[in-house]
Amino acid sequence: MNVIKLSAIGSTNDYLKALCKETDLQDGTVVLTEEQTQGRGQMGATWFFEPSKSLAFSVFKRFDGIYVDHQFAIMVQVSLTLLNCLEQFGIPDLAIKWPNDIMAGDKKLCGILVENQLKGSQIKGSVIGIGLNVMNGSFKGLPKATSMLLSAGNSFDLEEVFSTIAEEIVFCLNHFYADHYHLFKMYEESLYRKDQVSVFSDQNEQFNGIIRGVQSNGELRVEIEDGTMKSYRLKEIKLLN
Ligand code: BTN
Repeated sequence: MNVIKLSAIGSTNDYLKALCKETDLQDGTVVLTEEQTQGRGQMGATWFFEPSKSLAFSVFKRFDGIYVDHQFAIMVQVSLTLLNCLEQFGIPDLAIKWPNDIMAGDKKLCGILVENQLKGSQIKGSVIGIGLNVMNGSFKGLPKATSMLLSAGNSFDLEEVFSTIAEEIVFCLNHFYADHYHLFKMYEESLYRKDQVSVFSDQNEQFNGIIRGVQSNGELRVEIEDGTMKSYRLKEIKLLN
């Protein structure tokens, strides 16, 4: 693994994307920072970071012959890899909140921001940003956040957590070309609140529904109260509880 260690940066995803444009970046390059001042989350959100307690890093993966319709499969692969690593570290009650938040119980432990470089109908490369709360003891103003420390009740070594996860992500993405059917099945089995009645909102209203799975393009399949099945894209639906 080619690891670039920074003392501080706005966003590791932005740094890695800029580096990709400027240089012929080695496949599997990882950028890790000790401090991230302008971390970005999904849909324009900001991402919380606490030095010496949080992990923020981004992985660059080059692809050849992968079509744009596989963008969601990349997120699936990364989410499952994180879930497996965190399980090995002994974190209880793990699940993937669609599309790719890693939950411990009802709280968010880890966020993933995948940004793909597209050329025509193909994905040329991906920058995969991981924000993981490791040793945080509290989260001011973020009642739905947790850390590895808070959920497992014991301490973790940031460097060890980083190298385990980064190596595993690079390894799994090097084998990404195989068996997506199996990958999607595992992802669906790991979905947060799957097969339970939940409250959702769309642009118009709140409604009850049951998460049943996902489509291969990433849409969430929800059974609504009259028994019909509907599929939603990311901005079309919000899981309230
Ligand atoms: C989310 O859940 O909204 C995604 C959060 C992703 C945060 C990580 S931290 C490292 C990388 N750099 C960023 O600016 N964002 C990602």
